[in-house]
Amino acid sequence: MKRKLWPILMTYLMSFLFLISNPARSETKKLDRKIDDLLSSMTIEEKIGQMTQISIEILTIDGAKPEDRVELDMQKLRQAVVKYNVGSILNVGTSAHPLDHWQKIITTIQDVATKETRLKIPIIYGIDAIHGASYTKDATLFPQNIGMAATWNTELMKKNGEITAYEVRASGILWNFNPVLDVGRQPLWSRLWETFGEDPYLAATLGAAYVKGQEGDENNIGANDKVAVCMKHYLGYSFPLTGKDRTPAWIPERMLREYFLPPFQAAIESGAHTLMVNSSEINGVPVHSSYFYLTELLRNELGFKGFTVSDWSDIKNLHERERVAASQKDAVKMAVMAGIDMSMVPLDYSFYELLLELVKDGKVPESRINEAVGRILKVKFKLGLFENPYPDKSLNNRFACQEFQQVNLQAAQESITLLKNNNQTLPLAKNKKVLVTGPTANLLSYLNGGWTITWQGDREDLYPKNKFTILQAIQKKIGESNVIYEPGTSVDEEIDIPAAVEAAKNADVAIVCIGEKTYCETPGNILDLTLPAVQLNLVSAIATTKTPVVLVLVEGRPRIIREIVDKADGILMAFLPGMEGGPAVANVLFGDCNPSGKLPITYPRYPNDLTLYDHKYSENYNLDCRYNPQFPFGFGLSYTSFDYSNLKIDKKEIHQDELLTISVQVKNSGDRAGKEVVQLYLSDLYASVTPSVKRLKRFEKVALKPGELKTISFVLNQKDLSFIGRDNKPVVEPGEFEVMIGGLKEKFTFSFK
Ligand code: BGC
Repeated sequence: MKRKLWPILMTYLMSFLFLISNPARSETKKLDRKIDDLLSSMTIEEKIGQMTQISIEILTIDGAKPEDRVELDMQKLRQAVVKYNVGSILNVGTSAHPLDHWQKIITTIQDVATKETRLKIPIIYGIDAIHGASYTKDATLFPQNIGMAATWNTELMKKNGEITAYEVRASGILWNFNPVLDVGRQPLWSRLWETFGEDPYLAATLGAAYVKGQEGDENNIGANDKVAVCMKHYLGYSFPLTGKDRTPAWIPERMLREYFLPPFQAAIESGAHTLMVNSSEINGVPVHSSYFYLTELLRNELGFKGFTVSDWSDIKNLHERERVAASQKDAVKMAVMAGIDMSMVPLDYSFYELLLELVKDGKVPESRINEAVGRILKVKFKLGLFENPYPDKSLNNRFACQEFQQVNLQAAQESITLLKNNNQTLPLAKNKKVLVTGPTANLLSYLNGGWTITWQGDREDLYPKNKFTILQAIQKKIGESNVIYEPGTSVDEEIDIPAAVEAAKNADVAIVCIGEKTYCETPGNILDLTLPAVQLNLVSAIATTKTPVVLVLVEGRPRIIREIVDKADGILMAFLPGMEGGPAVANVLFGDCNPSGKLPITYPRYPNDLTLYDHKYSENYNLDCRYNPQFPFGFGLSYTSFDYSNLKIDKKEIHQDELLTISVQVKNSGDRAGKEVVQLYLSDLYASVTPSVKRLKRFEKVALKPGELKTISFVLNQKDLSFIGRDNKPVVEPGEFEVMIGGLKEKFTFSFK
């Protein structure tokens, strides 16, 4: 007997000693125990309620218009939370609420959840805070992700994440449906501006920085100024063949792993707590129905431990739109068994009812329900919701404070990308008479895009009155008497082009602000990437006056402008620069800020030539077939000049597990302070899968005073030399590589010892 007991006692003792010497592990154990205890006291109805997410629209007093304050209907709220045990609510209902109104809404919801239900489980409220707390009035609204990517400033991206987390949490909301980690390789797609552009490494780096900004360096999402992120939309959503939102992508697994998976992998490694699923399909398989994507790849391979949420109505869509499920009930079973933990139903209780039936009929095992609910409860515990589910009003004081506005202005400025500057037309002198014209000159909504105050972001009347459009910011900077304004056209219709032409004759320079109207998701689908003809006509007509023309592009995707590029002396790409976009554009135009943005996308010249920068050699081998965009990926001018010299590598040959250190000197050879993005590209010269001509592997943004020289170093490892091989697994092959920075090149070889 004694003999048998000894090993057991020893095992207990060892685990006890291990746990007290490892506090993090012991915390995890404690949390797991709490979750198990709670799960074991829950009824199946309570569990399924936790997996159900509904939209606030079905909980409010009927008839509210977008401009109204949303008010909760207590009967509907109780029906959701008490009767259906709903565990999560999302969305805004009408339009952005003032901070105190959000706090009131969340308090009411948590009161019902924690005082009127049997187990007092708090609600996890989720929101699309895509470029700031976009559904809280007067929040700090940054450039959209495509503009943030143009900054190539990882630190700024992290700060964006921190400030957004602060303002979302101040609103009483602890869960943010961002970052978008879809890689933007289809320029027609209406959500391109929600991405960090076409390169997986850039997207992975910025996405990971955002995750840390939102969740904290240690992912302590219980901190009172942090939130849980929701990376989305896993996987392959951004590459619809037709360019239309929520239509099929055809992506071979090798390509999926090479170009679309890395940002998700990086965010998972950065500790991201939740994930939203691609609304659409890859190769005929809706991702919501795929055990391979949602369990084998996501959990077994990438090691994701958080919970997954469906996108809007997408379990229903398996039946209604995608037609892989013959009934709603089949759709629910399919999605839950594939690995969806929470359903964004979002406008009824069908998911709850159908899943309940499925469990009762033994069609979905309760073990799968326990797994999903356990994951959801874990995030709720980690957010600190069980200790205090209420908004922390002490956060009010720094909400949208001056310091946050400054960071936002810096982000907007750094996002602006100077694409053309003939004869140093820019910066403009402040005593010049300027014409400001074009459809994007005088609307704040166009500077912000979707996910601003409302879903479509197009309610100009609801925008803050203390922010400046481009026109207003220019007037403020150089005085109203120096500015003539003629709208010329709307985005797609003429207003009065001759009036704009007449005005141009009396101006020293014409600033023509063109681009896109505000849109989000499917309403942003287009049939032609070319900028609407009326805007091209406006520019062409003004150019006939011989007054220098400066174009400001305000757009979420690269609309084709080939026929007006030569007519312009200067071109600024502003993307969707957010609430400080007006002053940022004016500061760049008049030289109070030296532009430092670089394109995170290839800007195409022709609508049918959408070749990306990391194309294959066969796409660039003679004059009939070449990478010939209007402006290449990584491109952006400055008001100063930078010289690169002394590219050095520390070894000519490396072996597995060895590092390669690369250094280069960058000098500001002009007479203005400026920032340069040092970009390191690598070419694998020969490989068993056709290599790309080059791939971005590292970058660093450096500030240089006039005449200043800095040495920048990068370290590459074996993973950087790898690619996804013919068997869909990462591989490194011996051979020659070339490293390129700022026009300089060095070769090295890799071999196995
Ligand atoms: C979008 C998601 C968003 C969700 C909730 C969906 O239509 O695709 O990106 O998070 O709505 O608003």
